[in-house]
Amino acid sequence: MAVMYKCDVRNPEEWRVLLAAAIPDLDFRVWPDVGNPEEITAALVWEPVPGDLARYPNLGVILSVAAGVDNILSDPDLPDVPVCRIVDEYTGMFMAEYAAYYALRFHRHMYLYDENRRQKLWRKGPRTETQDRHVGVLGLGNVGRAVAAKLAGLGFPVTGWSRSPTVIDGIATASGTDGFAEVVAQSAILVNALPLTDETRHILNAATFARMPKGSFVINMGRGEHLVPADLMASLDSGQVERAALDVFEHEPLPQDDPLWSHPGIEVTPHIAAATNLRTASRQVIENLRRLETGEPFINAVDRARGY
Ligand code: GLV
Repeated sequence: MAVMYKCDVRNPEEWRVLLAAAIPDLDFRVWPDVGNPEEITAALVWEPVPGDLARYPNLGVILSVAAGVDNILSDPDLPDVPVCRIVDEYTGMFMAEYAAYYALRFHRHMYLYDENRRQKLWRKGPRTETQDRHVGVLGLGNVGRAVAAKLAGLGFPVTGWSRSPTVIDGIATASGTDGFAEVVAQSAILVNALPLTDETRHILNAATFARMPKGSFVINMGRGEHLVPADLMASLDSGQVERAALDVFEHEPLPQDDPLWSHPGIEVTPHIAAATNLRTASRQVIENLRRLETGEPFINAVDRARGY
């Protein structure tokens, strides 16, 4: 078994060491030095080069190093083999921390005090009771659920939205197009934790922002392509949206000349809401490499038609 590894944002040696500890005879090849393509039976990837995965005739499984697989499924020449993603409680926990940080920062207007402090200005800002600040969480997968639970635990009234009906203990949920409109209309803070699919692309657009209560907040930690940046900036300029935190961007790293960097209503973070935890994620990869050998069904395989 030879595993092809391609992930430009992470040191391959970290993966090699963890996988080799469990599979001593593992043949781990770092792209582009993959040797004979016929020997590759598994691919461990983030943002594979479109068309590349089709070069391996004996590929049995494509393993995402991350939770999101949009960067793999977007390949028009993707071979017809199972694609598995990382489904890890650590990802949910980290994402929930990010959402909690920004929800509280926005809810308590801490950004105003950052600015006031610079001007040595002793001035108290507005106050809203937590129970009156409705939060909408878009996406109720492993991440969205963790986010919804964390924010509900902080005392926010939370409603989660997903494409198809989902029941979660202690959290109000809505689904479908009508449900989306309802959730957005009541969200003073809207947190996006959706997977990127053809249906969710540009879901954070002018119509969505217009529907939200005036002076609301947006937290995007899904994918950059969920957002129409020009619509967000226009909604911020008009005061419809008060402030936004963006962790993900269509082009990463965010280009130097991108106006999102300098918009006064936007806080940019460099895709740090969560990072794959190699210690726990590698167990899933090792398990799937084992299943590739035995022919058992893979864990965390994605539904390619659905896109997640
Ligand atoms: C990160 O963006 C991930 O998909 O895990």
